[in-house]
Amino acid sequence: MAHFLDEKNSAETVIGRINDDECTPRFRQIMAGLINHLHDFIKEVELTQEEWEIAIDFLTRTGQKCTNERQEWILMSDTLGVSMLVDAINNRRPEHATQTTVLGPFHVVGAPELDMGTNISLDGKGESCHFTGRVLSTDGTPIANARIDVWSDNSDGYYDVQQPDIQPKWNNRGIFTTGADGAYNFRGIKPVSYPVPTDGPAGEMLNGMGRHPYRPAHTHVIVTAPGFQKLVTHIFDGEDPYILSDAVFGVKESLKAPFTKNDNNDCEWHCAFDFVLCPD
Ligand SMILES: [Fe+2]
Repeated sequence: MAHFLDEKNSAETVIGRINDDECTPRFRQIMAGLINHLHDFIKEVELTQEEWEIAIDFLTRTGQKCTNERQEWILMSDTLGVSMLVDAINNRRPEHATQTTVLGPFHVVGAPELDMGTNISLDGKGESCHFTGRVLSTDGTPIANARIDVWSDNSDGYYDVQQPDIQPKWNNRGIFTTGADGAYNFRGIKPVSYPVPTDGPAGEMLNGMGRHPYRPAHTHVIVTAPGFQKLVTHIFDGEDPYILSDAVFGVKESLKAPFTKNDNNDCEWHCAFDFVLCPD
């Protein structure tokens, strides 16, 4: 029976208004879950009227901070661990397959297709690094025609798209395609840790919780190959001081790579990392 909303029945009353004839079962499930948890949360913390007003203002400013180049909602999702939770639920892979992590906001479609060995650092800054490895199937077979799309920040901690007037276009980006042996190699820089943008509501939230905004140094990678699941991941510098406190919770043990000093090559560092893909 329909009833007026009160403190005790609030979630049940709102959920009771869902019209199953006009609502898909999945949307009903999502909205009922959301309403239940939201009402439980408000009851648990006994939200004050003043806090409700602060929350409305905060959410309003979060939306207003978004532009074509800035996605404050994704930043909020990332820093609350929601992006990594959604990634975990949707990418349950065997332990010996390379694990996924967040895409992040700085991927650009259409990076240059380069020959193996090419140096993707175009601004000449930073400590040079030779990246080598293979793309393999979970059974150990090398994968030919795998596309490795890589991107990283420069040594100042910024992606090229954050500094279009300072960095060369496509700085620290490139796409490499494997041959029959599944091997890849390219030159670039040892990435550096950087803060997520803190000049918006997500920054205020981190500050309010006494959290730092830094991500440990990482190189982003998307590996695709015909017949295999797409891999969106990072190679992390396992020695980075922020490795245990990534602001967006993106680190996984198996994604920590060794960056070793390189004495017999044209680069200062060497990073060896194999990508293991799951068949479709
Ligand atoms: Fe990044």
